[in-house]
Amino acid sequence: MSANEQTFIAVKPDGVQRGLVGDIISRFEKRGYKLAAIKLVTPSKEHLEKHYEDLSDKPFFKGLVTYMLSGPICAMVWEGRDACKTGRMILGATNPLASNPGTIRGDYAIDVGRNVCHGSDGVESAKKEIALWFGKDEVISYKQSQFDWIY
Ligand code: TYD
Repeated sequence: MSANEQTFIAVKPDGVQRGLVGDIISRFEKRGYKLAAIKLVTPSKEHLEKHYEDLSDKPFFKGLVTYMLSGPICAMVWEGRDACKTGRMILGATNPLASNPGTIRGDYAIDVGRNVCHGSDGVESAKKEIALWFGKDEVISYKQSQFDWIY
């Protein structure tokens, strides 16, 4: 676990359409994570197939890519202690019906194919995903002075 671990978090097209971007940002901010990158993007089919390449043999792959192409996505990098693991806890389980209330998916979704958000499943995949979605100069390193006294 590193103090400045980074994770890739995305608000999927349904989350953007439903106006959930602000709430999702707020949950990460309030928990104590630092925003290192953010942009609204409409990625290509090829980009999304690369992002989900590990799932290319799954029966839901085609539908997943079509859903991800259905509107803008808010792509972000969040930084802080154990960001990948805790980020996944903030999101909830892949299937929203198995997500606890209080998580993003547990509060806002009931359909695995419309589960509002994405979060890297570990440090290695976070590195790959951040490099796929952001240029080096888009991920900003800065100091938040409050961190000195909160933590
Ligand atoms: P996966 O990487 O297994 O989950 P997570 O997003 O929690 O890391 O799957 C990627 C996405 O694929 C998932 O967020 C929703 C979609 N999906 C389905 O549509 N049907 C399914 O049965 C599964 C397992 C995932």
